[in-house]
Amino acid sequence: MMDWTDNYYRTLARLLTRCSWLYTEMVVSETIVHQADSLDRFLAYPESQHPIALQIGGSNLVNIAKAAELANAYGYDEINLNCGCPSDKVAGHGCFGASLMLKPELVGQAMEVISRNCSVPVTVKCRIGVDNHDSYEELCTFIETVSSKSPTELFVIHARKAILKGLSPTQNRTVPPLKYEYVYALARDFPHLKFVLNGGITSILEAKYALDSGVYGVMIGRAAYNSPWTVLGSADRILYGVPGPGLSRRQILEQYALYADSTMGRYGPHRPNIRTMLKPLLNLFHAEPGASRWRRAVDETLRVRKTVHAVLEETLRVLPDSVLDAPPPVPEMPSESLLLQTPRLPGSPSSFHLTSQRQFVDQPQLLEKVAC
Ligand SMILES: Cc1cc2nc3c(=O)[nH]c(=O)nc-3n(C[C@H](O)[C@H](O)[C@H](O)COP(=O)(O)O)c2cc1C
Repeated sequence: MMDWTDNYYRTLARLLTRCSWLYTEMVVSETIVHQADSLDRFLAYPESQHPIALQIGGSNLVNIAKAAELANAYGYDEINLNCGCPSDKVAGHGCFGASLMLKPELVGQAMEVISRNCSVPVTVKCRIGVDNHDSYEELCTFIETVSSKSPTELFVIHARKAILKGLSPTQNRTVPPLKYEYVYALARDFPHLKFVLNGGITSILEAKYALDSGVYGVMIGRAAYNSPWTVLGSADRILYGVPGPGLSRRQILEQYALYADSTMGRYGPHRPNIRTMLKPLLNLFHAEPGASRWRRAVDETLRVRKTVHAVLEETLRVLPDSVLDAPPPVPEMPSESLLLQTPRLPGSPSSFHLTSQRQFVDQPQLLEKVAC
């Protein structure tokens, strides 16, 4: 998520869960095409991040074809097209993000073009509707059109509509109500397709509940970023029935520090810098005793220490050993979960998707930064 879930965050996530799919930040297709000489900066990732999906944004068929072809060399496991970003800056700039939901034929063509230029499955991330185009029938038309015009078999559905004018991106992730029933209904009405439910899931047990209720997968965004330890630490065990990495946070930080210190400066002086490398760690102790104190200590120490290892060595002592050495947590179901109030469909669990997105870059013909 905008400046949140970058390559570095994904590396941290992999120390918590081996099985969950990771999604990149969105990379605009024009960025890929125009930065063909420095693509590593946008598309390279450590092998450990598999399985990983690249999300691209755009609708210019020539550019997305080229972008898919260039990205294919990086060996992603899936290419996903963003049809859910409501940002004015994006939505108003030609057809892009959520406004694409109003053009199912174009999305079908785009998906066909992407699939012809890559060797992996192609998928769509979308909302349940846009503005007043929010009926279940319109959503079905979108799904039907896109899936019949292209080999798209998997749709990640953020279960609230997007409002293109008048709401900020943040409001567009909270104000329009979640309608999980739309996603369950899609799973019922298009049994040959796969639907991944997204929006408002805050725990692994909720994800499990949704999987047991008939959707193919669950994507978790903000909760996985804000509470990586509690949300991801038990994902492999609860959702996939296999042991996770099983590392304590002290062990995770040791491994992460090795990676971070060998990655700093890879793309030029201070790119990425120590602050960027430390940022994904800051929520690792969310809601634990000493967490705020530790964050403050990190903030002060990174000004004087040159490596992540040194910063951690100096600051971790403010956290209790019982926290640092605790095994991955046992998850709890949030009692206020909206999911529990949504009717279930029969079905079987399948996969878990962890969202991690975007990279908007200073491209002349592109907008500055946007949040989706
Ligand atoms: C800061 C931020 C940036 C986001 N950027 C993207 C993006 O680039 N592409 C995308 O498909 N969704 C993006 N999203 C939306 C999330 O993927 C997700 O659909 C949304 O937050 C709802 O899921 P959640 O309740 O699990 O967070 C972003 C969300 C946030 C908070």
